[in-house]
Amino acid sequence: MRKTSQAKILIVDDEENIRKSLRMVLEYEDYQVYEARTGEEALEKSDEIVGLDLILLDIRLPGQDGLAVLAELKERPYSPEVIMISGHGTIQAAVEATKLGAYDFLEKPLHRERILLAIRNALDHQRLKREYFDLRQKAAKRYELIGKHPVMKELWEKIKKIAPTNSTVLIHGESGTGKELIARAIHQQSQRAEGPFIQVNCAAIPEELIESELFGHVKGAFTGATEKKPGKFELADGGTIFLDEVGDMSLKTQAKVLRVLEEGEVQKVGSTKIQKVDVRVIAATNKDLAREIKEGHFREDLYFRLNVIPLYAPSLREHKEDIPLLVGYFVHLYAEENNFKIKKFSPDALEVMMRYPWKGNVRELKNLVERLLITTDRDIIKKKDLPEYMRQQEGVLLPEIKKVKSLKRFRELAEKTFILAKLEENDWNISQTARAIQIPRSNLYKKLQQYKIKITVGVGEVVASSEHQAADGEESPNSTEQDGR
Ligand SMILES: Nc1ncnc2c1ncn2[C@@H]1O[C@H](COP(=O)(O)OP(=O)(O)OP(=O)(O)O)[C@@H](O)[C@H]1O
Ligand SMILES: [Mg+2]
Repeated sequence: MRKTSQAKILIVDDEENIRKSLRMVLEYEDYQVYEARTGEEALEKSDEIVGLDLILLDIRLPGQDGLAVLAELKERPYSPEVIMISGHGTIQAAVEATKLGAYDFLEKPLHRERILLAIRNALDHQRLKREYFDLRQKAAKRYELIGKHPVMKELWEKIKKIAPTNSTVLIHGESGTGKELIARAIHQQSQRAEGPFIQVNCAAIPEELIESELFGHVKGAFTGATEKKPGKFELADGGTIFLDEVGDMSLKTQAKVLRVLEEGEVQKVGSTKIQKVDVRVIAATNKDLAREIKEGHFREDLYFRLNVIPLYAPSLREHKEDIPLLVGYFVHLYAEENNFKIKKFSPDALEVMMRYPWKGNVRELKNLVERLLITTDRDIIKKKDLPEYMRQQEGVLLPEIKKVKSLKRFRELAEKTFILAKLEENDWNISQTARAIQIPRSNLYKKLQQYKIKITVGVGEVVASSEHQAADGEESPNSTEQDGR
C-alpha cells in the first residue's frame, strides 16, 4: 500500500498565494501536490489524477463554488476525501459542507500544524474506507457465479434481463447448483442492490417458529415472546427476500406468504396492525413443485404467484465443460483465503472429474477441491489423488466390457458397477444401500467382499476402494446366481 507521505493531494483555491504556501507545506511532508484554480478545473483534475486521496477545497471559488463541487464529487463512486477551506464569513457554509460529506474544514488563516493534523486524519479515514471497500469486493467475489458454457451464459443473460424488474422469481434446480448465488446476483444487479438481501431457509426453521420468523411478533404473542421482534419481510423492506427451500413451507405458512405477495402487507404474530412492505421476492426450491401441488403439499395459487419468472439452475452435468474453470476458481479462492500455494490439477484428473456424475453439483466439487488442496502435498493434483469412488465410477464398465468373454463375467461387472453407483448414491451407507437395491444387508456384505470393495469411513469423508482386477481376468469366487435375490 502507498505510504501516507506519498499520498496525492489536490489544492483548490483561486488565490495563488494560498496555493503556493500550501504546496510548500505539503511538499515538505512528501505529499504529491496538484493544483486547481476553479471548481470546474477541480472536478476535471479529480477525474484525471489516478488514486487521488484528498482535496483541499476552498468554499469561495469563481464560477462553481466549493459546495457545488463537493456535492458533485460525492456523487461519484470512489471520491477522494475532502477538507473544506473557509475564509471569514463562510464558517457556516463549512459546517454545511461537513454535513454534505466533507471530512473536515479549515479556517483561514491556515496554520501549519492544524493543516497537517487534518490531512493525516483524513488520509487515515480514506485508507480505512478503501480497506472496507476491498473487503466488500472480496466478499462479493465469494458470490460470483462461474461458468462459460452456453447454458450458463443463457442463465446470465436471463439474470441481467430480470434483475432490474420487480418481478417475483422462482429458481429451481438440484441441490448445490448455485441457486443462492443466482438470487444474490439478481439482487446485486437490481435497483435494490443497496438495500438488504434477507435470506430465509424455510426448511431449517421449525414449523411453529416460521410465522414469527417471517412476519415478526409482538411482545407476549406466545410463550417465549418476551420482546417484540421484526420479521424477515420487514427487515427486507426496500430490498430482496430470498425464500430458500420454499417447497418445505407448511400450507398454513404458504397462505400467509401468499397474502404478502398479493397485498404487500405483513401482520406480526399477535398483532392486529397491518404493515406495508416493499420487498422483492425470490424463491428457490429443489423440489418438483408441480408434483407437490398434485400431492396437495403446495398451494397452486402461491406457485403461480411465485413462478412469475421461472429460472432454472443447470446441474453441473449439464455444463461439465466448466469443471476446469470452476476448479481453477476454487483453487484461487482457497489459496487467497488461507494463504495456500496455488496448485494445479492434472489433465487426466480433470478428465475423470468431468466424467463423474456430481450428484451434489458445484457444492460437491467445491468441497472436493478444498479437501484435495489440504490433503495433497504435491503442487499438482493427479488422477490418483482423487477419491477412489470417483476413479472407479469412471469407465469401469465401458473399457472393460470389451475384454469380457462370458455372459457371467459381464453380469458381474455390471453388478459391481451398479453396486458402486448405489453406494455412492446412498452416501456409502451399507444398510441404506441394501434397502435401496432390495437385497438383505448380509448379501450386500458378501458382494462387497466378492468385488473387494472396501469401505472405510474416516473423519468427515468416505473412502471406498476396490481392486478392479477382481472383476478382471479370473473368475470371482462367488457367482451372482448364488445370492438370495
Ligand atoms: N456457478 C458457480 N460458480 C461458483 N460457485 C458456485 C457455482 N454454483 C455453486 N457454487 C458454490 O457451490 C455452493 C453451493 O451453491 P448454492 O448454495 O448457491 O447452491 P443451492 O442451489 O442453493 O443448493 P441447495 O439447494 O443445496 O441449497 C456454494 O458454495 C456456491 O458458492
Ligand atoms: Mg441453497
